[in-house]
Amino acid sequence: MDENETLTFEVTRRTVIETGTTALLLTTLPRAALAADSADAGPPPTPVSIELQINGHSHSLTLDPRTTLLDALREHLALTGSKKGCDHGQCGACTVLIEGRRINSCLTLAVMHDGQSVTTIEGLAEGDHLHPLQTAFVEHDGFQCGYCTSGQICSAAGMLAESRTGMPSYVTEDLTQPMAELTDVEIRERMSGNICRCAAYPNIVAAIKQAAGSPT
Ligand code: FES
Ligand code: FES
Repeated sequence: MDENETLTFEVTRRTVIETGTTALLLTTLPRAALAADSADAGPPPTPVSIELQINGHSHSLTLDPRTTLLDALREHLALTGSKKGCDHGQCGACTVLIEGRRINSCLTLAVMHDGQSVTTIEGLAEGDHLHPLQTAFVEHDGFQCGYCTSGQICSAAGMLAESRTGMPSYVTEDLTQPMAELTDVEIRERMSGNICRCAAYPNIVAAIKQAAGSPT
């Protein structure tokens, strides 16, 4: 078939469901069409060398500049504690701390953090001593399947630091106080970027209150 010829595919919903979309299209698409797509994409970008301070250790990496921080952690450094839930900023499973501030690592490029410090769930404990949030999550059963948990704990660590600096939230009622009381409503609002499919929210809130030193 000529490369410029119009390509016609008759892919019905039924055939897709029966055979699997990817397998069907990959075996049906003419090579010319795939080659044309790949030529449009151009050559891959030049790799970039960066240095990250991760959990107190220096790591030198040479990466495709399009690599997200999450993929750099998981695929290049085998730090798989940070989870890929949605890969586009909706679930919070990939939350890590950059210079102490929480961030969705799937939404940021590793090269943007050259020279910065990154803390992942693997870096929160000190030796055999769990971080107070980790202890509280265990004591309050703050998880079921656990897939969201590393993101919840990193996010909570960043959130507690934010609240100690006096940062208000959308639901803070008294902005004259130096620090908002971490009520259930405050915690739920401040943690609203972290989704738990198992709906362990009451236990997560209780764990965070314990770690914050608030009455549970
Ligand atoms: Fe990053 Fe869901 S994986 S927000
Ligand atoms: Fe399963 Fe939160 S514990 S998603």
